[in-house]
Amino acid sequence: MPGSPPVNHPHNLAALFANNRDWSAARRAADPAFFSRLAAQQAPAYLWIGCSDSRVPANEIIGLAPGEVFVHRNVANLVLHSDMNCLSVLQYAVEVLKVRDIIVCGHYGCGGVAASLESVSRGLISNWLRPIRELAEQKADELSGLDNDARMARLCELNVIKQVGNVANTTVVQDAWQRGQEVSIHGLCYGVSDGLLRDLDVSLDYSVVLSDLVDANVS
Ligand code: CO
Repeated sequence: MPGSPPVNHPHNLAALFANNRDWSAARRAADPAFFSRLAAQQAPAYLWIGCSDSRVPANEIIGLAPGEVFVHRNVANLVLHSDMNCLSVLQYAVEVLKVRDIIVCGHYGCGGVAASLESVSRGLISNWLRPIRELAEQKADELSGLDNDARMARLCELNVIKQVGNVANTTVVQDAWQRGQEVSIHGLCYGVSDGLLRDLDVSLDYSVVLSDLVDANVS
């Protein structure tokens, strides 16, 4: 009702607040200056671009504490040249935080990758996932020889490799490399069934030929 004070709705987050208090206390016990140090500055060496999937928590699977990795996540870990959100994260990470390594991490069993191949529309998100479907069409020769599971796994990898190239081709990274800034890009794929990262061996750094568009081993 207009003019009424806001109602304090009950919610189901009590367990989360309890977890948070315990976590904060444990951190302080282990390192009394932990939060005051972080409050003064963040200086992460890594930018992580990963999937929003709840099974792929960036800090946790690479064993890094708050302050150690700058994170951008979206459905199916896409880096699109029209996505102001991702590009702004990338620019801030490279130009202000001066991260040394950019990690694009996909994962096997990615629901976004699977949905990109479905014939039925899922509404808005089908537009978001369209670049993966187009990638699958470009790679049809390679993918058609695989059984269903292997095809999905390979498409998860190919999607990461494509996004590594997309990161390299942004103005942010091209400009950084032109300045001689040492920033590298890596493509990883995470196994939700074993908790392990695979290096897809498509790393790029400023020694690659500048101004040529990068096609990170996709061909
Ligand atoms: Co996913």
